[in-house]
Amino acid sequence: MTDLAGQTVLVTGANRGLGRELVVQLLERGVARVYAGARDPRAIDVTDGRVEPLRLDVTDPASVAAAARTARDVGIVVNNAGISLPTSVLSTDTANLRSELEVNLFGPLAVTAAFVDGVRERSGAVVNVASVLSWLALGASYGVSKAALWSATDSMRLELAPHGVQVLGVYMGYVDTDMARGVEAPKTSATDVARQVLDGLESGASEVLADGTARAVRAGLHLPVDERYAAPAA
Ligand SMILES: NC(=O)c1ccc[n+]([C@@H]2O[C@H](COP(=O)([O-])OP(=O)(O)OC[C@H]3O[C@@H](n4cnc5c(N)ncnc54)[C@H](OP(=O)(O)O)[C@@H]3O)[C@@H](O)[C@H]2O)c1
Repeated sequence: MTDLAGQTVLVTGANRGLGRELVVQLLERGVARVYAGARDPRAIDVTDGRVEPLRLDVTDPASVAAAARTARDVGIVVNNAGISLPTSVLSTDTANLRSELEVNLFGPLAVTAAFVDGVRERSGAVVNVASVLSWLALGASYGVSKAALWSATDSMRLELAPHGVQVLGVYMGYVDTDMARGVEAPKTSATDVARQVLDGLESGASEVLADGTARAVRAGLHLPVDERYAAPAA
């Protein structure tokens, strides 16, 4: 991917947070159309003739299939929708883990599979918004889902590379959105993260490390596991 101008893009979870900011900045970069996916499309408040609100619950196969039938011209899929319900991986109650896997793993897999023919034909791109917690096991059940998305992202990249499709994984610590509302720690703005994601798309990158935490943790992945967890991550 070199140029977003003229592209048609799908963003999931586009009604708030990082997804909404991605829609705004995609428009600024001259895309032809953005399908703004949301469980409730009435919640899409970016007013631009190029924005098409699209009903899309990434956990609902019928919703995903209907969206793919409607948005046949998509060349870039941005799997942004996510939930965070961090729960001990030793809990006997796996409901939260299962919900996180549905949204954060099976959601991106289902959406990408539904749109992949068009993405392949256009030698387009897939963006998966993961987390630094893909690599750092401090996120309990949420981290499990994001680690799985990391692996799935790399698998997608290998499968799609022969078709000229870029697959971009996005990794970061806290972002200043509803998801991190209760957190008292430094947060990157959604504006800054979205800008880096779109820069990464336009430069053909495979990964965006959107803050210092992600860069530090990524740089330490080669270390023995005991050493990784002995030192502060960032
Ligand atoms: N915020 C952080 O600190 C942080 C850090 C690292 C990674 N991330 C990741 O960044 C991405 C964006 O999160 P955010 O910070 O913007 O969070 P957010 O403000 O909580 O927004 C989450 C979005 O996902 C949507 N969503 C949830 N379940 C969905 C479903 N089943 N189908 C379709 N959409 C669904 C939400 O829609 P509704 O309005 O309908 O609920 C909302 O639009 C997520 O993948 C998140 O895991 C966030």
